[in-house]
Amino acid sequence: TGARIGLIGLGTMGAALASNIADKGFDIAVFNRTTEVTRDFASNAGPLADRITPTESLEALVNALAKPRAIILMVPAGDAVDAQIDALRPLLDADDLIIDCGNALFHDTDRRASSGKWPFLGVGVSGGEEGARHGPSIMGGGDPDHWARVEDIMTAISAKHDADPCAALMGPGGAGHFVKMVHNGIEYADMQMIAEVYGILRDGHGMGYDAIADVFDAWNKGQLESYLVEISGIVARARDVETGEPLLSVIVDAAGQKGTGRWTAIESQHRLAPVPAIEAAVVARNLSSRRDERARGEAIFGSAPQAFDGLDHGTLEQGLIAGKILCYAQGFEMLSAATRDFGWDLPMSRIAQIWRQGCIIRSSMLDDMARVLDASPGTNLMYTDHFSAILKQTHGALRQVVAQASLNGHPVPALASGLAYFDAMRTGRGTADMIQGQRDHFGLHGFEHTNGKTGQHGPWAKN
Ligand code: 6PG
Repeated sequence: TGARIGLIGLGTMGAALASNIADKGFDIAVFNRTTEVTRDFASNAGPLADRITPTESLEALVNALAKPRAIILMVPAGDAVDAQIDALRPLLDADDLIIDCGNALFHDTDRRASSGKWPFLGVGVSGGEEGARHGPSIMGGGDPDHWARVEDIMTAISAKHDADPCAALMGPGGAGHFVKMVHNGIEYADMQMIAEVYGILRDGHGMGYDAIADVFDAWNKGQLESYLVEISGIVARARDVETGEPLLSVIVDAAGQKGTGRWTAIESQHRLAPVPAIEAAVVARNLSSRRDERARGEAIFGSAPQAFDGLDHGTLEQGLIAGKILCYAQGFEMLSAATRDFGWDLPMSRIAQIWRQGCIIRSSMLDDMARVLDASPGTNLMYTDHFSAILKQTHGALRQVVAQASLNGHPVPALASGLAYFDAMRTGRGTADMIQGQRDHFGLHGFEHTNGKTGQHGPWAKN
C-alpha cells in the first residue's frame, strides 16, 4: 500500500503536475523543501485532497509510497537535480524509479541515467503551468521497462489530440530531454519570427496594438493557426493592470531565457545540423538585453526601423507561413541528426503527433507534419510534397518581407535566416568551392576534384 507516485518540488510546474496526477485518480505523495509550501498546497487541494499525501521530510515521502517506488523531480534544472538525487538515493530501494520532469540538459540526463544502477527516466514536459495542470505534451526518455511502470500515469495526465495521448517514449537516456530541447529551439525561432512581424506592423505600418491583435487573431483562423500566434493576439490586446496602457507598451524589450534555446543552438553545431533560425532567435534574445548599446547605436546612427508601406497583411501572413515551416523543418532535421549520431531511433512522426496538443509549439501544421513524417521519417520537411508545395507558394512572400524589412531598417534575423536556409538548401552548386580553394591555398588542406579524386591541390602546391 501507499501512494502510487511521489513528487518533489511544488513550484508552479510541480504543483500543477501533482494536481493533474491526483485529478486523474492516482494517489500522490508530495514533498517540498519549504514545508509551508507543502502545507499550502495540500490545504488548497479542494476535492483532490483525498488523493494527496503531504509529507514534511524525504523519509516521510519515501515511506508514503507503494513499492517499487516512483518519484517525480520537479526542481530547477542543473545542480539542484543532482543534489536531490544524492539526498534521495540512500533512502530508496534498488528498483525505485526517479523521474526528472524538469528542463534538464540531455547530457545531464544521459549521465544520470547511466551513472547509477538505478532506474531513471528523463521526461520533457511542455505546456507551461496550464499544460502541466490540464494536459501537457510529454516526451519520455529512458528504459522501456521503466517507462512502462508509469506510462499509464503519463498517458492519463497528458494532453489528448482527439483521443490520442500526447505522451510517448522517445528513446533511451537523454532522448526525451533532447526532443524537449529541440521543441524549445523551435519555440524560440517561432516566437522570434512572430515578434519580427509584429515589429513591421508596429513600426513599419504604424499600427496600434488592438489592430495588431486583430491581425494575429485573423491569422490564427488560417494556416498559421497555432498557440503562439493565438497568444500573440492576446498579448497585443492586453492592458497593463497598473496603468491601463497597452501591455506591450510597458514591457521592457529585453527577452529573458533559461537556456534551452541556447543549448539547442550549441548542440546543433556539434551535430552539424543547421538550425539558423533557432540560432538567430537566440542571438536576438541576447542582443535584446543590450539596451544601453542599442540606445547608443540609435544616438549615433538614428533609429533603424522606418515607417513604410508596401507589404500587405496577406504577404506578411504568407511570409510567416514559410518561416514557420522552416522553423519546424530545421528542428526535425536536428532530431534526424541525433537519431543518426546517437544511434537513437527517434519516432519522428510520433513526435509531430505528441506536439499537436499541450505543448507551446502546438500548431495545426503539425497534423500534416505527422502525416508526411510517417511516410518519410528522415526527409527534410521542405522537400516533402505537401510542404514543398506550400513553400513554392509562400517563399516569394517571405522574400518580400525580408527585402522590405531590410530596405527599411527592420531587423528580421530569424525570418532572414529562414530564407537563407531555404535558398541554400535549394542551391545545387554553391560557393564552397571558393572556401576549399582558400583552405588549400593557405594550408594545403586539399579538395575533392569534380573528377572524383580527393586530396587534390591547386597550382601553389609543390610536390
Ligand atoms: C514549455 C516551455 C517551458 C518554459 C521554457 C521557457 O515547453 O512549456 O518551453 O519549458 O516556458 O523554459 O524558456 P525560456 O525561459 O528560456 O524562454
